[in-house]
Amino acid sequence: MLLEDQVALVTGAGSGIGRAIALRFAEVGARVAVNDLLDERADAVVAEIQAAGGQAMAVPTDVSDGRAVLKMFTRFLTLWDRLDIVVNNAGALFLEPHVIANMEAQAAERAATGTVSTPLEATRTLEEGIWRRTFGIHVDGTFHCTRDALKVMEVCRSGSIINIASVAGLSGLAGAPDYSAAKAAIIGFTKAVAREVGPFGIRVNAIAPGFVDTPLLDELPASVRAGIVAQTPLGRMGTTEEIAATALFLADPSSAFYTGQVFSPNGGYVV
Ligand SMILES: NC(=O)c1ccc[n+]([C@@H]2O[C@H](COP(=O)([O-])OP(=O)(O)OC[C@H]3O[C@@H](n4cnc5c(N)ncnc54)[C@H](O)[C@@H]3O)[C@@H](O)[C@H]2O)c1
Repeated sequence: MLLEDQVALVTGAGSGIGRAIALRFAEVGARVAVNDLLDERADAVVAEIQAAGGQAMAVPTDVSDGRAVLKMFTRFLTLWDRLDIVVNNAGALFLEPHVIANMEAQAAERAATGTVSTPLEATRTLEEGIWRRTFGIHVDGTFHCTRDALKVMEVCRSGSIINIASVAGLSGLAGAPDYSAAKAAIIGFTKAVAREVGPFGIRVNAIAPGFVDTPLLDELPASVRAGIVAQTPLGRMGTTEEIAATALFLADPSSAFYTGQVFSPNGGYVV
């Protein structure tokens, strides 16, 4: 099997894209450490993997907390004693109610007149706490798990780190300045670490998915979703399995000459 004998850590694997990646990796032979902020979500995915005959361990932790991440690594490394793949996937999108309402108003205006007069009011009203929490989960979380993974991977002189960015980090997403900035930061981090650790046999790449129908987008009104689909040449949102297929490519040896790259399965939303 493609990932036989390999150990993978997937953060935020209790839902959506992370769950699909964890299930796919386990299906092709990896032992998967399933991280999530919420214990019950991690446990449910572990149960799903085990029911299908795979091997998995729940390692619930808030990845924005560096000390907690170190404890998580110690826990699963004590049991499994190796780490080959890390997918930094944990994420959240915080949209304030007035921004969602303004997005909806803009979508209606665009449909009716082709122009927009309602301001989104996302950036000038963004609370500092939300800005920090977004960076904490996405940027600090990616840094914490990468830092601890490298301690193991540099000794083995091998490993693949896959950071989940977003089209928001490539082209900007109006209404989500914090999220867009955090995703762009993850891309810069990916490139810097790829240059640093390449000589030691470790590859670091990013995936910048387009819109994928997961609970992350639950708050988006139907009109905003329709607008996204209309701007996507392939005329639909992506599936979690499609993103998992990209992650599997970056985890397995067929991508051995790729590092520091950003892969964007996005249906043509960004070209
Ligand atoms: N859905 C999309 O359209 C889309 C597009 C591009 C990028 N992404 C990115 O893909 C990743 C996965 O998103 P998703 O769409 O599957 O969302 P999701 O909400 O379905 O899953 C995210 C998971 O991350 C967990 N999580 C949140 N904060 C955490 C923390 N501090 N520590 C550990 N786990 C935490 C949540 O509990 C949740 O289970 C995110 O990084 C997201 O930004 C999503």
